[in-house]
Amino acid sequence: MNLGEFEDPVRILLVGAGLIGRVHAARVAADPACRLVGIVDPAEAAAGVAAECGAPHFAELEAAIAATRPEGVILATPNQLHEAGTLAVLAHRLPLLVEKPVAGDLAAARRMIPAARDAGVPVLVGHHRRHGSIVRGAQEIVARGDIGAPVAVSGLTLFLKPDDYFDVGWRRRAGAGPILINLVHDVDLIRAIVGEISEVQAIASSARRGFEVEDTAAVLVRFANGALGTFLLSDTTAAPWSWEMTSGEAPDYPRQSEHCFHIAGTRGALSLPDLTLWRYGDRAGWWEPLARTFLTPEPVDPLIEQVAHFRRVIRHGETPRCGLLDGARTLAVIEAIARAAREGGSVTVEAVD
Ligand SMILES: NC(=O)c1ccc[n+]([C@@H]2O[C@H](COP(=O)([O-])OP(=O)(O)OC[C@H]3O[C@@H](n4cnc5c(N)ncnc54)[C@H](O)[C@@H]3O)[C@@H](O)[C@H]2O)c1
Repeated sequence: MNLGEFEDPVRILLVGAGLIGRVHAARVAADPACRLVGIVDPAEAAAGVAAECGAPHFAELEAAIAATRPEGVILATPNQLHEAGTLAVLAHRLPLLVEKPVAGDLAAARRMIPAARDAGVPVLVGHHRRHGSIVRGAQEIVARGDIGAPVAVSGLTLFLKPDDYFDVGWRRRAGAGPILINLVHDVDLIRAIVGEISEVQAIASSARRGFEVEDTAAVLVRFANGALGTFLLSDTTAAPWSWEMTSGEAPDYPRQSEHCFHIAGTRGALSLPDLTLWRYGDRAGWWEPLARTFLTPEPVDPLIEQVAHFRRVIRHGETPRCGLLDGARTLAVIEAIARAAREGGSVTVEAVD
């Protein structure tokens, strides 16, 4: 018997009702074990979002916490506000789901880590792909040793953002760009499966769109376990090879039957998102037949899974599947890639403990 079914719904307060905040509101509303107790957002449009969700609207966090007595908070504000919002929520000793990237920069993320430790409160970072069946399946396959030791990894993040995406000014300027906005998901995904990245090199180009931000980048990475990898990234290519377009986890994108990650190890190889496993039989070597096993999981909505995980973190003490340290380590890799693209050469990824 699942006793959880008989508990009161977990009371969740949402802060930030923009693009992703509205998605969270819908996912919380769809989870019978959760209750959306309020929405905090000073923007006028947020009142309408709150009304649609049947939740009270607040312009300010402290008043909302006092009025709604939440058990957990989802923070979906712009990156630069993640630190202040996190510290304000931690001051009330409330568990928190903070959107990715964990903070506007690594220095801010570093300040959030001891604050959470001091408050003794769990913080989950919104790298939602970790909650899907594909990443969890790949983690199990690699951790079980089915591909042996990882040796070589490739990731493709190639898609086409429509021209009007760039009508919004900040998306054309430094501080935006696909390294920070998109590659951060792929770096987190590959860290979750293969392990820590210790060193990077990168080149970037804005030759196609001509904006301040890059439209294309090529990245080399070294993993702490000795594996090497590459990422190819562009938001200006008419191509199908990206997680959004191949995983089936993002319903807004027409799905393509292609791969976007390959992980080759000493005893086997794995492609994602299809989870096809390649292994030799008794005899290994390039003259021998390589057998292919399809382990394709049913895609699930990782944002629904993330909300369910968050309520178990709040009520049942589950350890966050992506905590502050993980969010900060992913951001450290992204900052190293951005620096390598700017300055050239090889950049050591800053350790975060
Ligand atoms: N997990 C994902 O796939 C995903 C997707 C999109 C965005 N994000 C992340 O979510 C965050 C928000 O991105 P977005 O695209 O929804 O941005 P957005 O600009 O659409 O929405 C941000 C909202 O925060 C509100 N806000 C600003 N200051 C506030 C404050 N002090 N208190 C409460 N609300 C405030 C704004 O009014 C706005 O409605 C970013 O960190 C972004 O990187 C994650």
